[in-house]
Amino acid sequence: MDHRVPLLFALSASRAFGKAVAEKLGTALSEHEERAFEDGEHKIRPLVNVRGRDVFVIHSLYTDAGETVNDKLCRLLFFIGALRDASARQITAVIPYLAYARKDAKTQPRDPTTTRYIAQMIEAVGTDRVMTLDVHNLQAYQNSFRIRAEHLEATKLFAAYFLPTLKDAAKVAVISPDAGGIKRAERFRSALGQVLERDIGSGFMEKARAKGVMTAGRLIGDVADGVVIILDDLISTGGTLLSAAKLCKAHGARAVYAVASHGVFVGNADKLLATDEVEQVVVTDTIPPFRLDAELVERKLAVVSAAALFAEAIRRVHEGGSLVELLQS
Ligand code: R5P
Repeated sequence: MDHRVPLLFALSASRAFGKAVAEKLGTALSEHEERAFEDGEHKIRPLVNVRGRDVFVIHSLYTDAGETVNDKLCRLLFFIGALRDASARQITAVIPYLAYARKDAKTQPRDPTTTRYIAQMIEAVGTDRVMTLDVHNLQAYQNSFRIRAEHLEATKLFAAYFLPTLKDAAKVAVISPDAGGIKRAERFRSALGQVLERDIGSGFMEKARAKGVMTAGRLIGDVADGVVIILDDLISTGGTLLSAAKLCKAHGARAVYAVASHGVFVGNADKLLATDEVEQVVVTDTIPPFRLDAELVERKLAVVSAAALFAEAIRRVHEGGSLVELLQS
């Protein structure tokens, strides 16, 4: 048995992404069994010996046709519990899309802080480390977990993707669709500036959400005659990015690209792809775009793979390499 190689599992619903990560690592996914019982309960176990091994479990937590986000969370927890009982040495939960990350603070009396409860559940089954991509609120993520919480960013992937499109654009601006995303947009603006070797503008849209209803406010920043990239952590109904795109166009933007690390795409999200206000919607592959209209996907959606980034992060965690260097170099 070669202990220099980590053991990599991907639960059934995340098999495609897991395979892509395994391929980049030059290994194969380890086998496991997931059995559903007639009453809705299930059992899950590794089919290989994990004793003393450094184990990584890949599972993205979003609802699809087969399983709800809660089903997926439950399977992940039970699998990690089984790995711990089977004497795995170190277990990393690799969760490309981490659910419930938006409920990170009390905004009404007696509100839950769900982000922290998720962390407590993941820790309770014996996880040593968690790894995710572009979480909604980085501080809340880092403070909710007591175990090591690794955070990857799609910044460089998106910057590389946009290099051919933007290399001849006279004016480019990165816009955050809300004040909470300004730091994320700023990191992307800086990465984009490095690859394009010039100054990039910045700004943000004022946004308020009350009882689930989003209201767009003013646009702060200069986008007139420029190419605008609106960057968010995730697209849910697409309402936020659609409003931001319309606002940028109303302020004279020449072309608008809507970019997010996670494409959840629920409700009327097709509208974001269908509108002429947006040139292209760009996401990573942490969630497959299965809910969107196939013709729109073909015409307007670009998917940038985060598999190589996760593979390299897993390799570095396993071998003791630096994630800071991976993200900043
Ligand atoms: C919330 O602040 C997030 O960062 C996203 O902006 C939001 O979840 C997107 O939701 P929707 O696509 O439904 O507007």
